[in-house]
Amino acid sequence: MAVRSLAYIRVETRDLAAWRSFAEGVVGAAATPDSNEERLLLRLDGRPWRFCIEKGEQDRYLCAGLECPDEAQWQATVDRLAKAGVALEQADAATIAQRHVRGMVSLADPAGNRIELVWGNVVAGTPFVSPAGVPAFVTGEMGFGHVVVPTNCYDETRRFYKELLGFGDSDEMRVFFPGGPEQGLGMSFMHATGPRHHTVAVGEFPAPSGLIHTMVEVPSIDDVGLALDRAQAAGVHISSTLGRHTNDKMISFYMRTPSGFDIEFGCGGAQTADWTTVTPTFTIKEDLWGHTWDFGT
Ligand SMILES: [Fe+2]
Repeated sequence: MAVRSLAYIRVETRDLAAWRSFAEGVVGAAATPDSNEERLLLRLDGRPWRFCIEKGEQDRYLCAGLECPDEAQWQATVDRLAKAGVALEQADAATIAQRHVRGMVSLADPAGNRIELVWGNVVAGTPFVSPAGVPAFVTGEMGFGHVVVPTNCYDETRRFYKELLGFGDSDEMRVFFPGGPEQGLGMSFMHATGPRHHTVAVGEFPAPSGLIHTMVEVPSIDDVGLALDRAQAAGVHISSTLGRHTNDKMISFYMRTPSGFDIEFGCGGAQTADWTTVTPTFTIKEDLWGHTWDFGT
């Protein structure tokens, strides 16, 4: 009775045109024709969309769509949240139709990060064709990637994802820096029931945009390198150089979106078919190599 994958994210922006240019020209996502000119729906695969970019007054992350594999598991998860006293808002039919799901409640984690808990694998019915020539994004049952959200109540937030949404520990880190707290800052990487190493991570870091980063995955290192070339040619801020993470083994770089958070663009992320065979790790060195950060302005 648990979340399987990250279905989508929703984002607010003051500049839809900048997002369209970034998404199509750099990421390689495909904009879906939409009658609503205040919104940009972006495809990465056979789903109708994975990113919903909405015109607004701010540049910020809005929420993650976390998906249960079927209605029974979704309902059981909703019941568990309700029993724990979590405030749930049942979505109306128009919202469910816009999200291209079959059922949805919205809620917040203890740190205030918004979640839309959904079920229903709606298929677009037309093939995904990347305008930047990306051959595919690695999605399917693993969802489109992961989100790393901020928290000011680390232990409580971890417990929420694990005890109420069914996540399990994959890896934990403590991040130390000069002048920082003696115990360091925590980062917790948690897996859903799908095979992706982590679908949600929580970090004791501030994130003015509402999100530390989200991740998309492509099949090969050449697809990552080509995306890095496109980002540099477009003048996109590169938040981190190429590198390979110790925990999920992903080779990736990070770039700044028009809404202020980063996209990790990578390949080779670890997958696990049977989570009962895995002992969670504690990582003391974040990267095997690379990932030099430039947080910019
Ligand atoms: Fe990541």
